[in-house]
Amino acid sequence: MCGIVGYVGPRQSQDILVAGLARLEYRGYDSAGIAVIDESGTLGMRKRAGKLSALREALETDPIGGGTTGIGHTRWATHGGPTDENAHPHLADDDRLAVIHNGIIENFSDLKAELVAEGVAFRSETDTEVAAALLAREYRANGGDLVGAFRGVVHRLDGAFTLLATHEDHPGLVVGARRNSPLVIGLGEGENFLGSDVAAFVEHTRRALAIGQDEIVAITPDDVAVTDFDGNPVQPSPFEVSWDASAADKGGWSSFMAKEVSEEPEAVANTVLGRIRDGRVVIPELDGLDELFADITRIVILGAGTAAYAGLVGKYAIEQWARIPVEVELAHEFRYRDPLVGPDTLVISISQSGETMDTLMAIKEAARLGAKTLSICNTQGATIPRESDAIVYTHAGPEVAVASTKAFVAQITALYLFALHLGRVRGSLSEEDAAAAVTQLDELPAKIQWILENEQERIEHLAHWMADTRSVLFLGRHVGYPIALEGALKLKELSYIHAEGFAAGELKHGPIALIEPGQPVFVVVPSPGGAPTLHAKVVSNIQEIRARGARVIAIAEQGDSAVLPHADEVLRIPLASPLFEPILAVVPLHIFAMGLATAKGLDVDQPRNLAKSVTVE
Ligand code: F6R
Repeated sequence: MCGIVGYVGPRQSQDILVAGLARLEYRGYDSAGIAVIDESGTLGMRKRAGKLSALREALETDPIGGGTTGIGHTRWATHGGPTDENAHPHLADDDRLAVIHNGIIENFSDLKAELVAEGVAFRSETDTEVAAALLAREYRANGGDLVGAFRGVVHRLDGAFTLLATHEDHPGLVVGARRNSPLVIGLGEGENFLGSDVAAFVEHTRRALAIGQDEIVAITPDDVAVTDFDGNPVQPSPFEVSWDASAADKGGWSSFMAKEVSEEPEAVANTVLGRIRDGRVVIPELDGLDELFADITRIVILGAGTAAYAGLVGKYAIEQWARIPVEVELAHEFRYRDPLVGPDTLVISISQSGETMDTLMAIKEAARLGAKTLSICNTQGATIPRESDAIVYTHAGPEVAVASTKAFVAQITALYLFALHLGRVRGSLSEEDAAAAVTQLDELPAKIQWILENEQERIEHLAHWMADTRSVLFLGRHVGYPIALEGALKLKELSYIHAEGFAAGELKHGPIALIEPGQPVFVVVPSPGGAPTLHAKVVSNIQEIRARGARVIAIAEQGDSAVLPHADEVLRIPLASPLFEPILAVVPLHIFAMGLATAKGLDVDQPRNLAKSVTVE
């Protein structure tokens, strides 16, 4: 939600800010704006409702030249609709102070009433403008100390915020503060950056500092100063961004999503890389942490959307290999139901961005209740891993398209690695089973590649054909069930078609009533060799819906001929043992959702109403 960028240095900040916003646009695209202290020392501001292209057009006709200090924002609307007035930055102190914000200030109505009573007039409906007015009041009261004004204001704000500000009186200074919302520092030579994530500045520097919870940062071209909210100095933790700017470019693909689906083999391979030694899973990040897992009697996996579905798949592997009960829950449901977890529970959070507020709040609650926490995350320096006792990073590389694809397969891979690690630590997994699983993991990238090379075109044709479809159902059993959920989520998210995923066994308990002649149904078919009982059940389910007129599109293993008489289409995946099938079966569904949205002429990278990193509850 909302992308934030700040710059101080010798270069034209307008260009740097707009380039940073382009890389952050996945976080929100309802409006965009920048504020720059121009060469005459005056604060200039441009902002436009709509995508970044609208701001770019405005800047072409009316640039803010020469300025070397500035802030920029791309918005996912919360308080107030996506209009020019509600776009950030918001100005205060006679338009000499500019403020941008990510998050929600929950007590903004009370604060606004207080300011209105003092005679402050507001131009927007946003909570951000209230923060700007408070900062201006504090700044005037303390005699022009911008960092001091932040210290005075942050204690008054409830909720989640990253705030950045720049003031005409202080060219060469950008100040920021964060609570429950992301902000990282990029360290340059004679220039410094702030960003919601490293994508904002990775084309200029890969040296970064993570800012902790409840901290204030001031950047100048030559200095970075971080304190807590009371002004006590804090040493931020340095890290090196492991990917370069080209990894976050489209690289000739028609969309980021097309590129990211093509990177699914690599996402799995890179997540496994360096974590298998002498045929055994060894996760270096977990060295010395066996103690943490020694006394746990249960695991709770938390996440939202696609990440939660990865968790559902992971449950099967952890229970099978580590013989420990696993529950999977949506993070937002867990947080507000007085959950029963304690020191015997390991809470695993899954998050691509590492910033999803629902997930962050849930693991904080779990930690407060004494649970051990482990995060599976794709983003270095993000908040969720920093709030966890242990981290297993997925190495999918930057995921820019709003809908998650390569991160999903990497999340399942990381969960499997962890399950194998835990199985070894707990002594519940035989050497033989562990070795067989490692072989399967190693073979996955090539098998995904096979699907991309041999089935992608056919799936795209199918999607093209089905462009006018109004509803699609997805069925799966066992590990195929979360894949059915993921297939449905991706389709509704990208192509705005009604789509639902069901456990195939649940069909006759209600959903079969939806089947009418011509209803398309994707069915994830288990391996006939690896899971013969499940396979037989699913083939029966196919027959049941076919008898009622469904148009069946089966995703089945190569050589599975039992489905042929009953399916209208069969999309093939290579052979894999049952636990590894979901990582393959999801690939055709990602391709299909993308293909159908493309056939409808929709923007697959930025679907309507969505944003990638959901940093509000
Ligand atoms: C769906 C999708 C979302 C995310 C969810 C969690 O395609 O991308 O459902 O999976 O918002 O996001 P992260 O993984 O960043 O916590």
